[in-house]
Amino acid sequence: MEKRNELYAGKAKSVYATDDADRLILHFRDDTSAFDGKKVEQLARKGMVNNKFNAFIMGKLKEAGIPTHFEALLSDNECVVKKLDMIPVECVVRNLAAGGLVRRLGVDEGMELNPPTFELFLKNDAKGDPMINESLAETFGWATPEQLTTMKTLTFKVNEVLKQLFLDGGMLLVDYKLEFGLFHGDVVLGDEFSPDGCRLWDKDTREKMDKDRFRQGLGGVIEAYEEVGKRLGMRFD
Ligand code: ATP
Ligand code: TYD
Repeated sequence: MEKRNELYAGKAKSVYATDDADRLILHFRDDTSAFDGKKVEQLARKGMVNNKFNAFIMGKLKEAGIPTHFEALLSDNECVVKKLDMIPVECVVRNLAAGGLVRRLGVDEGMELNPPTFELFLKNDAKGDPMINESLAETFGWATPEQLTTMKTLTFKVNEVLKQLFLDGGMLLVDYKLEFGLFHGDVVLGDEFSPDGCRLWDKDTREKMDKDRFRQGLGGVIEAYEEVGKRLGMRFD
């Protein structure tokens, strides 16, 4: 597969065309951002760790029957994916209260959410990724009702698979964000699943092992990501 021109440079990944019109290369960079890009730093090894972490998780999701864009690891920092028409709607599931939910509703961090909640956000940095709902998504044409139903079903299916996977490694999957896109009309999971886009706590100590370490300046960010991976049986060398 031939790597061609850069199509897009996001906050953490760069997207390249290939000689196959249906395939892209994602390059995971060391850039780390939070607060809609207001806090940005380079964290050594992050691109490699997230690329391999994402490959591992996408493999587990595929085994569970979830359609994903992931095709193959290409190098330490790159993977090949199906080229999707991205749906500009982010799906967030929460098992425990944290982050934005605590800020919005004033509930206690760590409160168990039963049943888990499902929220939609518009993927639009300039507008600060505002919260939306199914009605707004349909009216503004961001996604059809059928696509939204599939996205919700798949997002909860991911929850069942990953909640147990992390629990087996002694961790709680607090919340996470997924992005979907269309591949020849079918809804497929895109982007990445890594500690950059979810919250993970140690089951016993509730120590944060995700991007909140960066957001809150706790240090040991990549060390925590690697610890999460190792607990799931990943190797990063
Ligand atoms: P955010 O950090 O909020 O996700 P971003 O655009 O800065 O936004 P990056 O991860 O840096 O995010 O960039 C990757 C870009 O590639 C995102 O816009 C994402 O939606 C897009 N993308 C991910 N997977 C695919 C795919 N399979 N096909 C096409 N585009 C994709
Ligand atoms: P949330 O608590 O709504 O936002 P914040 O990170 O500002 O506190 O986020 C819920 C989960 O979804 C959290 O693990 C981060 C992830 N997420 C993203 O990675 N990107 C996003 O644009 C959004 C809305 C959430």
